[in-house]
Amino acid sequence: MEQSPFARQPALITGAASGIGRACALHLAAKGAPVVINHLPHEQATVEAMVADIEQAGGRALGVVADVSNEEQVTEMFAKAVAAFGTVYILVNNAGIQKDAEFAEMSVADWQRVLDVNLTGQFLCARAAAREFRRRGVKPEISPAAGKIICMSSVHQVIPWAGHANYAATKGGIHMLMATLAQELAPARIRVNAVLPGAIRTPINRPAWDTSEALNDLLRLIPYGRIGEPEDIAKAVGWLASDDSDYVNGANLAVDGGMLLYPGFAGHG
Ligand code: BGC
Repeated sequence: MEQSPFARQPALITGAASGIGRACALHLAAKGAPVVINHLPHEQATVEAMVADIEQAGGRALGVVADVSNEEQVTEMFAKAVAAFGTVYILVNNAGIQKDAEFAEMSVADWQRVLDVNLTGQFLCARAAAREFRRRGVKPEISPAAGKIICMSSVHQVIPWAGHANYAATKGGIHMLMATLAQELAPARIRVNAVLPGAIRTPINRPAWDTSEALNDLLRLIPYGRIGEPEDIAKAVGWLASDDSDYVNGANLAVDGGMLLYPGFAGHG
């Protein structure tokens, strides 16, 4: 059987123990990529089970604990990835949190923590990835690119979101971080793109879908008429991580069932 094009392109996925990150890790592993599953200490057992399942299916996986907002821990995580799999070709910059509050009541701690994880975390991991991609360089027999970075943004890099000023500010920041890196790193054959998920059924937004009343409310914002599943995002990430998208750089790919299409205007205005 022909070897998967991902077999020699290890992927590191941050925040990969649950939600979108988990789906991306399982999807890339199923496509044949060795995967580094970044997670927090309390997620150890979950990640051990993921690693066992991937290995059972003939894949390769490594769980690595790191807080993406901590420079030293990010450096160590990449060192472990390189020690295990030789290099890293794909970074899914996914780890993200919400700490929602009405703006006048938002604490500096909640503002700062969301910036640290969502924005500084993407900076630190992208920087570590870019250093590894440049160290190794392009190997045409493996990939036309030195590496690929996929930034997990959100429809809220475009849609303002009352009660979520910290989160929306990070997604706006990720937009320009992604675009600037795409411009700056392209000559080194590093591609940087963003996926903008809409409402996806994950733990981060459970209150928005776990009662039928909440779900009906949510569906008014989604022209396509269903909530997204983590696999919807993973498939888009799989394409951006593959060499099928080799000429795609600096793109914003909304995977949102049309949430960005101003659904409030359908039949109005
Ligand atoms: C947020 C979710 C939200 C979705 C659509 C995402 O970025 O994390 O909580 O449901 O955007 O509003």
